[in-house]
Amino acid sequence: MFKNLTKLACCLGLVNGAFVVCSQNVHSQDRLQHYNFLSENELHNLLKKHENLSILNRNQTEHILSLMREANTDIVSFRKNADRLIRILMEQALAQLQKKNSVKQSPLGFYTANEVKFSDEEICIVSILRSGNAFLNEGLRVIQGASIGQILIQRNEETSMPKYFFEKLPENIHEQQIILVDPMLGTGGSASMALKILQNYGVKEENIMFLTLVSCEQGLSKVFKEHPNIKIITAQVDPILIKEINYLAPGIGDFGDRYFGTVKKHTRGLQV
Ligand SMILES: *[C@@H]1O[C@H](CO)[C@@H](O)[C@H](O)[C@H]1NC(C)=O
Ligand SMILES: *[C@@H]1O[C@H](CO)[C@@H](O)[C@H](O)[C@H]1NC(C)=O
Repeated sequence: MFKNLTKLACCLGLVNGAFVVCSQNVHSQDRLQHYNFLSENELHNLLKKHENLSILNRNQTEHILSLMREANTDIVSFRKNADRLIRILMEQALAQLQKKNSVKQSPLGFYTANEVKFSDEEICIVSILRSGNAFLNEGLRVIQGASIGQILIQRNEETSMPKYFFEKLPENIHEQQIILVDPMLGTGGSASMALKILQNYGVKEENIMFLTLVSCEQGLSKVFKEHPNIKIITAQVDPILIKEINYLAPGIGDFGDRYFGTVKKHTRGLQV
């Protein structure tokens, strides 16, 4: 398996686009694949299957995500575009929170205001470490007074299974609206683990919104099966979860390594 991983990583490191054959001594089966995105119809069916799923308007996001996906994108551009997309997700999360009506006055007259019912302090952004922390920059711009919770779950490099390490959450978290964040939803293992921890703290599923940049059907199904009452907002749904390594494809590689600048030089964001 590790041999395959290294090969895959080498391929990613050496090419600028799909269909380019990898370097010396690889066989034709090692050609990089061209992955097709889900069709409008497939997306429609996915939304029908999962009532509590929202997918951002592709017209608004595909340009930004495309820049992030590209193996050649440098860290400055990667961060900039990740932040842009995270900002859109954050605004979308606020848009889905309960609203309250009141009459307010503009410089010219009165209007019926329809604003988020909760104050910043009633909202907690819970980050699944390490990559979830990438949401804090923009998250705190939009909701400056939010509390921050953190749950450290890491992938066991041997088994690819999520492993729990620790959590630090506000004491009153069961009274708050939770925005749980993790940029990638693959198998759904880490998200499920984080959701169970939140439940142990008395948080109701109805009060949880999970934000993720790129997800896949398998992960969405697992999380919704175990936690049907949460809401999930994703920017895009990728067609493939590569089994042996639990990476989304075409995906964006290892988000954490690319956002935090810890990519090993020759691997271009795909951890080996
Ligand atoms: C996206 O853009 C296409 C082409 O301009 C348009 O036909 C489609 O309605 C847009 N989709 C949404 C959801 O806005
Ligand atoms: C979606 O979530 C709401 C509560 O947040 C719940 O009442 C509803 O049953 C959920 N839908 C499904 C299909 O589980």
